[in-house]
Amino acid sequence: MKITKRCSETQAQMYAWDAAGFTIGFIPTMGALHPGHLSLIEKARQECDRVVCSIFVNPIQFNNSTDLENYPKTIPADLTLLEQTGCDLAFLPENEEIYPEPPKESYTFGGLENLLEGAFRPGHFHGVAVVVKRLFDIVLPQKAYFGEKDYQQLLIIQQLVEQLRLPVEIIPCPVVRESDGLAMSSRNMRLSSDDRQKAPFLYKTMQKAVQMAKNHTPEEIEHWGEQQFAENPAFTLEYFRITDNHHLQPLDAGQLFHDARLLVAAWLGGVRLIDNVKINF
Ligand code: PAJ
Repeated sequence: MKITKRCSETQAQMYAWDAAGFTIGFIPTMGALHPGHLSLIEKARQECDRVVCSIFVNPIQFNNSTDLENYPKTIPADLTLLEQTGCDLAFLPENEEIYPEPPKESYTFGGLENLLEGAFRPGHFHGVAVVVKRLFDIVLPQKAYFGEKDYQQLLIIQQLVEQLRLPVEIIPCPVVRESDGLAMSSRNMRLSSDDRQKAPFLYKTMQKAVQMAKNHTPEEIEHWGEQQFAENPAFTLEYFRITDNHHLQPLDAGQLFHDARLLVAAWLGGVRLIDNVKINF
């Protein structure tokens, strides 16, 4: 596996692979890799001739400096995992490489960037869009892989590609979970062992909510969910919201749960957890 730090040397390799007729699959990450990330690499490995993964903790998508400082960094272990999973090139740029000067570009996504995650993390999706566009410009992939774990991010990236007519296909990948249902996340390693035991409550409550969709309205289920979290002192809920699957808008009154999604964010012991599931009845 080749490891690059510079945009220029990464691009040179991309041009060489392109000239050789190889298709490029790209997985942008912030490192602290786990099986959720690796599932994206594996999918790319099946579909593309060359697999490129970036590890870059993008400062401009963090609205909270403590979260940025505490973001786990496990580069040596990450590189071993990438190599074992069949990655061909790991791109590990420094800040100055991606942002030689403060970025000036601005993207909007019809208000999607201000809902849910965007409401609780102002500027987050702007930062994600800026870095992903810059990384796409360097790697020039035919396909890029994004996890449904960050469902709103996936929709934002799909909109970015449509708006700018970027020649890249976005491949959504399902959420990978621990055996007790907790969605895998780099932040999970910051949970205390006590909180780790409490963490499955989040997904278990979501699963009950999905079952309730058979005979309850979205408002009833959201209210029930908020109640469950209010009664659990370990968690502080940010949102428990049922929306349509494409624009994350509230379902119309009386609308069936066809193509809907439940999205949840909550704090547990200083760690912010997010999760989502599709609802389709
Ligand atoms: P990061 O949180 O490292 O995630 C990188 C990719 O892995 C994202 O597409 C994310 O959705 C996916 N992923 C994470 N956990 C997953 C899980 N349990 N199952 C399936 N996929 C999972 O998302 C980011 O980094 C950044 O915002 C980034 C896109 C790299 C831009 O900085």
